[in-house]
Amino acid sequence: MKHRIALLGFGVVGQGFAEILKNKKQVLEQQYGLDATIVAVSDMMKGSVYHPDGLSIEDLLTVVKETGKLDDYPEQEGLIRGLNSFETIKQTNADTIVEVTFTDVKTGQPAIDHCQCAFEHGKNVIMSNKGPVALAYSQLKELAEKRNVRWGYEGSVMSGTPSLRMPVTSLAGNDIIEIQGILNGTTNYMLTRMEDGLSYDEALHEAQKLGYAEADPTSDVEGYDALYKVVILANVVMNHPLKVHEVERVGISDLTSKDIEQARQNQKKWKLIAKLKKENGNVIASVKPEMISLDHPLACISDATNAITYHCDLAGPITLIGAGAGKVETGFSILIDLINIHRKQL
Ligand code: HSE
Repeated sequence: MKHRIALLGFGVVGQGFAEILKNKKQVLEQQYGLDATIVAVSDMMKGSVYHPDGLSIEDLLTVVKETGKLDDYPEQEGLIRGLNSFETIKQTNADTIVEVTFTDVKTGQPAIDHCQCAFEHGKNVIMSNKGPVALAYSQLKELAEKRNVRWGYEGSVMSGTPSLRMPVTSLAGNDIIEIQGILNGTTNYMLTRMEDGLSYDEALHEAQKLGYAEADPTSDVEGYDALYKVVILANVVMNHPLKVHEVERVGISDLTSKDIEQARQNQKKWKLIAKLKKENGNVIASVKPEMISLDHPLACISDATNAITYHCDLAGPITLIGAGAGKVETGFSILIDLINIHRKQL
């Protein structure tokens, strides 16, 4: 069955997702009966194209790679250019909006408004943006349910590592009492490199060069990125309406090479630990550097890798380790939401 997709934003994640659709076309059709067709792409900087019968993914990727824009996408009958994001939501025949715009995590915009508009027009939304899930979870979830559409956001925490779907589906029936994780790749990379002898500034510079850090690395090093992920986990996995201001937050910017060395002498390591704990009907949440012993399940997580442990009343502690960012990994997180929308599963 044809599933029509409109992409809002055609940066790294949008292009990564498009590449996956191109490369996996046959498998998706044969294995899942999913004929995923991109009908529209609208990007604030690169321009916009729409064709109700579908666009050529190959041409989209080539033209953006060669010119940085969509203006030279080949002309054909019925092709419409220039729709902005809201026009793309309202005026195209897309079943699902893939929202991968550059969104301000502090306001969640423009992604929150895109979501709202899409739901009101009877369209599903898939995104990897943290902002809308952390800031407007209940209201957007309610609206999607009311309009009988689906909202996918697996990639908002740990990109393609199934930190949200795995506990919600495979751990259903457990009471998840506590969650502990390393949810920010930049800071974990920096702490690992500081253990190798680099200074804080050298380690940050390397993390930026490798593309791990957010555009403004304050979000990483001061713990805001992990804080938003903690809020998402509380809402989605613990069903608790935790708000951003309720999370205790301390970054790693005060940690020095001397602190790292002292931990080593005591057979310990500094890690930026994100924590959620159920206590007397409440959830206590924090993101802060902790000195953990070497036999702690998170002590061996190095470089930009993420990890999360769910403490379950029935299944015991279960730890997931995997990437927390990346073009292909985040592209996959969009794909898995799409597959599950298509097969009408969570
Ligand atoms: N800057 C983030 C990190 C990317 O370092 O983990 C994923 O949110």
